[in-house]
Amino acid sequence: MNWPNTALTERLGISYPIIQAPMAGGPGSPQLVAAVSNAGGLGSLAGGYLHADQLRAAITEVRALTDRPFAVNLTALKPAKPDPAKVARACELLAPYRAELGLPPEFPEMPEPPGLDEQLDVILDMQISVLSFVFGAPDSEYLTLLQEAGITILGTATHLLEAIMLEESGVDFIVAQGGEAGGLRGTFVGQPEQGLVGIMTLVPLLAKHVAAPIIAAGGIMDGRGIAATQVLGAAGVQMGTAFLGCPESGAHPAYKALLSAGSEIATTLSRALTGRHGRVLRNRLVNELHRHEAELPGFPLQLFLTQDLRQAAMERGLTDFMALWAGQGCHLCEDRPAAELIATWVEQVEDLLGVRTPDPSSAIAAPADESHAADPVDPAPAARAPEATVDDAPDPACAI
Ligand SMILES: Cc1cc2nc3c(=O)[nH]c(=O)nc-3n(C[C@H](O)[C@H](O)[C@H](O)COP(=O)(O)O)c2cc1C
Repeated sequence: MNWPNTALTERLGISYPIIQAPMAGGPGSPQLVAAVSNAGGLGSLAGGYLHADQLRAAITEVRALTDRPFAVNLTALKPAKPDPAKVARACELLAPYRAELGLPPEFPEMPEPPGLDEQLDVILDMQISVLSFVFGAPDSEYLTLLQEAGITILGTATHLLEAIMLEESGVDFIVAQGGEAGGLRGTFVGQPEQGLVGIMTLVPLLAKHVAAPIIAAGGIMDGRGIAATQVLGAAGVQMGTAFLGCPESGAHPAYKALLSAGSEIATTLSRALTGRHGRVLRNRLVNELHRHEAELPGFPLQLFLTQDLRQAAMERGLTDFMALWAGQGCHLCEDRPAAELIATWVEQVEDLLGVRTPDPSSAIAAPADESHAADPVDPAPAARAPEATVDDAPDPACAI
């Protein structure tokens, strides 16, 4: 281990192996992308839902804020075939909420989803250097074309078979998306529950069986998570939820406020908002549609059907109907600028991995007794968690 130098930093010429996860739907603003890249990490612009002109404009906006590399993220998914019965059922289920928010009963016309071809033309034309994919990867011929243009390709896997398929298709890095992760699940082979492996298991598994370097994603919220995934064999991390609370994030203030108030059980997996499973904070819409999930159409049809409901909720600050994507670590979200967070995490990792360049002025002050050295992340754990005594020992009668 040679922190912070890994296959990722070396390939991309970035200072730290920390990627800000692409976050579609507003949170991953150009300001956040640029702030992360300027701080030595790699920002990612979520382009999956953008048509060519919108993608071009968003890239231009990021470039006005940074001259460092950043990634663009696209989806490799073929849209689900419309099922008229499911669309009709979804409209019926969503109608009362539309009425409650004063939206007209008739749904807006379904927009045409952006095509991958038009998006890739923009990527090539604007000489993007890093491209990440979720929901699979495009055909090998496409990938070869992109790589010949000097683009580094990242693919997202949620289990070993997907990682092997991505590697065979030729991606350069594999993002191992653990079940803890916020946002849509990247699973593209098998059933959703087969792609819910935690990163503690997923990272070493993929690192053992595929040659492409692994980027760990899911529940990583600070230097502890970054250091742990380095030890598990990752070449870097991709963090989404940890950046949601930043002032540069485009998440609605009411959404931000719920993140750190939540806990790991505040999130659930739901397909009510988009037609694909994703990890999200529970709210009224998610809770009430839960038992009808099997009746809803697939991605992106359901995403379109909920679009103006989510939009109206944002305008009114009503979290009941927003898409509150969040990972299981959301309770650790902090309202601090991205550069400050990254600097703190880097210090934590250096302390935890014992790789900090010694500061000559602090050498004399080093603690004599190592056992009393402070935890670099949680300086006073004893203040909150008194040591267990014999009286606290579990009652054997209560053992399950
Ligand atoms: C608000 C939000 C939106 C997301 N949108 C995308 C996206 O557009 N494309 C993508 O590949 N991943 C997306 N993700 C998933 C991330 O790439 C990543 O897997 C996840 O954030 C890692 O888990 P964490 O949120 O616990 O850090 C999103 C995640 C969040 C929280």
